[in-house]
Amino acid sequence: MLERETVVDDPQQVLGLLAKRGWFCHSGEAMHHGSILREIGKVGDRLGRRVGGRAGALEEVVEPRHFDEAHPRSLSARYGLGALPFHVELSHRTRPCRYILLGCIDPGSPSTATMLLDWRMLGFSSEEQNLLEEAPVLVRSGRRSFYSTILARGGAFLRYDPGCLKAVDDRGQRALRLVEDRIAGAPSGAHHWRQGDILIIDNWRVLHGRSPSDRGSGRRLARILIDA
Ligand SMILES: [Fe+2]
Repeated sequence: MLERETVVDDPQQVLGLLAKRGWFCHSGEAMHHGSILREIGKVGDRLGRRVGGRAGALEEVVEPRHFDEAHPRSLSARYGLGALPFHVELSHRTRPCRYILLGCIDPGSPSTATMLLDWRMLGFSSEEQNLLEEAPVLVRSGRRSFYSTILARGGAFLRYDPGCLKAVDDRGQRALRLVEDRIAGAPSGAHHWRQGDILIIDNWRVLHGRSPSDRGSGRRLARILIDA
């Protein structure tokens, strides 16, 4: 279990806590759906501008989905209730969002953990970083598909989502395999949810995933995504 931080209302303090390890959790009181969305909205709006998720909504309630209930291009459509692999949120956009704010409405039973992994812990050599910055990959997003790289110039952010990235040549294939292999061997953290928890993730630095879930577990997280 990862340690929890105290609440902060000051955006500078939030940014300071995020700078330490790329994410932090504030354990709040158990709140109902509407209040927790308001709470994460308040913190998020101080950090930047809200952006829509996969379905375009500026605030969402996410729950584990079976294959047949999931958005056709989402990871759930591929992995269903099984473990969701590490990914960077909105990797299919030209610039993935900077922050993810999640608020726990219901941890579910059995509860399902959110997995966290700082990509800087993946130990890329400078040669490997160059490969990740230069090898072209196809970012599949229907008619908005485009070519890009896994690592932005200078390592500003990682773009990684096994659901939407596709190699178009040998270098891209090596780059994707490199990230996949390093993730598989890296020690990750797990956040075990309690009702009222607010988790803030620097999406440019920390990949997230989900442990396996059960149908009807009742797990529900409020989510907003922030550009900054
Ligand atoms: Fe995600």
